[in-house]
Amino acid sequence: MNAITVENLTKKLGDFTAVDSFSFDVKKAEIFGFLGANGAGKTTVIKMLCGLLTSTSGKATVAGFDINAQSESIKRNIGYMSQKFSLYEDLTVMENLNFFGGVYGLKNRVLKDRIDWAVEMAGLRGRTSSLTGPLPVGWKQRLALGCALLHRPQIVFLDEPTGGVDPLSRRRFWDLIHTLTDEGTTVFVTTHYLDEAEYCNTIMLIHAGKIVAGGSPRQLKTEHIRYPMLEVNCTDIIEALGELQQQDWVIESSVFGTLLHVSVGDEEKHRPLIKDVLSAKGIEVLRIDRIVPSLEDVFIHLVDRGSN
Ligand SMILES: Nc1ncnc2c1ncn2[C@@H]1O[C@H](COP(=O)(O)OP(=O)(O)OP(=O)(O)O)[C@@H](O)[C@H]1O
Ligand SMILES: [Mg+2]
Repeated sequence: MNAITVENLTKKLGDFTAVDSFSFDVKKAEIFGFLGANGAGKTTVIKMLCGLLTSTSGKATVAGFDINAQSESIKRNIGYMSQKFSLYEDLTVMENLNFFGGVYGLKNRVLKDRIDWAVEMAGLRGRTSSLTGPLPVGWKQRLALGCALLHRPQIVFLDEPTGGVDPLSRRRFWDLIHTLTDEGTTVFVTTHYLDEAEYCNTIMLIHAGKIVAGGSPRQLKTEHIRYPMLEVNCTDIIEALGELQQQDWVIESSVFGTLLHVSVGDEEKHRPLIKDVLSAKGIEVLRIDRIVPSLEDVFIHLVDRGSN
């Protein structure tokens, strides 16, 4: 059973194609993520699925409703947390909750119960009379999530919910997302943090308006990176990278922080060669480890290949 189905969904803005024929399904109660850099097309897709933007062509259903013909029904069944939180900064926490509850048509006892739930879920007890503007970003983020969930939507769209949020708050936010899916809610989330993509059941890698690849984090790593990957800790990494890139037995190499990631055809044969080649140039090799590729490796692999 799918919560969302998308077939050849396209958005053109004049001559520019912001979203080029996307097709994918989102299963019920999964965490489904779009991972992509700025301008990849993530927000444009979410807006089309939420009925906030018309598509140029293609089809999609959200909670069983057609995005082109039934957008009002969709709006009743989804929650949407926009990229820039839509909270009113000059209202208190409670006033924001009341406002959004009202927008979703909640009243009296039901409204009160749902606000109690949201305050508890977001850890905002004791803060409900605080003004929203000065709250720390992590608190605003949880309040925005609470507001988006007041009417118990089946599906919630979170557009870069953790931008600008500190690591501890991000972690706490992801715990909340897991609780939601455990309770049966489908979560559609966008991010450009690779570590967050690892928390998703399914991820689509998006680049410049196209789906580059999709699957579980495990599938993406095993299906796209087929060669052993070695992590090299050495001095002068930029020079070392240049040197390795000239070797025909090096399949791929890139800089990761202060380390190099190098794919080779045969670990046993090529591991000592890395050391030989670099030592010959006066570069000191401190360590070489076999590693499991990260999603960042997959992303670099696919996007580099796509642009060649
Ligand atoms: N109304 C518009 N008019 C013209 N171009 C637009 C419009 N909205 C979006 N775009 C362009 O469409 C592309 C996709 O934008 P979108 O906002 O969907 O990307 P995104 O993946 O959400 O990026 P970010 O990570 O920065 O939020 C970008 O190149 C953007 O400049
Ligand atoms: Mg966006």
